Amino acid sequence: METDRMRKVCVVGASGKLGQYMVRHALERGYEVVGVCRERSVPKLAGFEGRMTIVPGDTDDREVIRRAVAGCDGVLTVLVPWGVRQYASGTAQAVLDHARPGARLVFSCGWHITRDGKDRYSPMFRLGVKVAARVGKLVRYVEIDDQVEACRRVFASDTRWTVVRGSSLEEGESQGLPVWSRHVGDPVLASDMTRRVDFALFMVEALTDDTLVREAPAIVGRLTPSALAHAEGQGGGRAGGRTNTPG
Ligand SMILES: NC(=O)c1ccc[n+]([C@@H]2O[C@H](COP(=O)([O-])OP(=O)(O)OC[C@H]3O[C@@H](n4cnc5c(N)ncnc54)[C@H](OP(=O)(O)O)[C@@H]3O)[C@@H](O)[C@H]2O)c1
Repeated sequence: METDRMRKVCVVGASGKLGQYMVRHALERGYEVVGVCRERSVPKLAGFEGRMTIVPGDTDDREVIRRAVAGCDGVLTVLVPWGVRQYASGTAQAVLDHARPGARLVFSCGWHITRDGKDRYSPMFRLGVKVAARVGKLVRYVEIDDQVEACRRVFASDTRWTVVRGSSLEEGESQGLPVWSRHVGDPVLASDMTRRVDFALFMVEALTDDTLVREAPAIVGRLTPSALAHAEGQGGGRAGGRTNTPG
């Protein structure tokens, strides 16, 4: 852990659900927080007034990102594939290009992103992604291929990145830090559910966890049946420590 050098962090996509949870976790850790969100979404951050700096603008606007990440030790980026305009890859590229050398860069995405092609997806999952990608592009609503491209660029970069791959999400009180594995299909992940507040917790924790540098952890809620079964198997049980399963 390298906690001492994290002082100022930027949350790119701060006004969304995941973004607001990340702002809250970052403030709780005493970090100075800068948030980027679309101009029209600034009011969503009213609850944080006086406690963070907001840089309004599209997250793929390079000038907006340049100003927002200046002097930041860490950048938390919500990668979203909205529209058909290379929004996710434009956002990732702007962060990769403008964050200061050595900054910790943590990106969010879903299980559908694969780093090494060794993830094992169910036929239903594959079909769902295929349909979402085709239909989303057809109606010009989402561009899943571009989120894939965004992550490809992150994986290829020589920055200190982590790509956190979220399972299905639900709202609810925190269950603590999710557990993770390198590959979708590993039994620990079988429950496929994480509280959104804990997805955000994992993202913020990753800022100061150097073991996650250049990892693409797939996460699942630590109190889900599959995570608990895994912890039992390790002799840990419910009260056990962090149950990461790189493998
Ligand atoms: N939803 C899931 O089930 C799920 C599952 C696994 C992983 N993930 C990942 O979790 C992350 C957060 O996703 P989320 O679904 O939970 O949503 P979210 O946290 O509410 O974030 C959505 C973000 O997209 C922005 N946005 C919405 N419409 C937009 C548009 N037309 N143009 C530009 N930006 C737009 C929002 O900004 P405004 O505040 O300005 O609207 C917000 O920053 C993503 O990286 C996603 O891949 C999600």
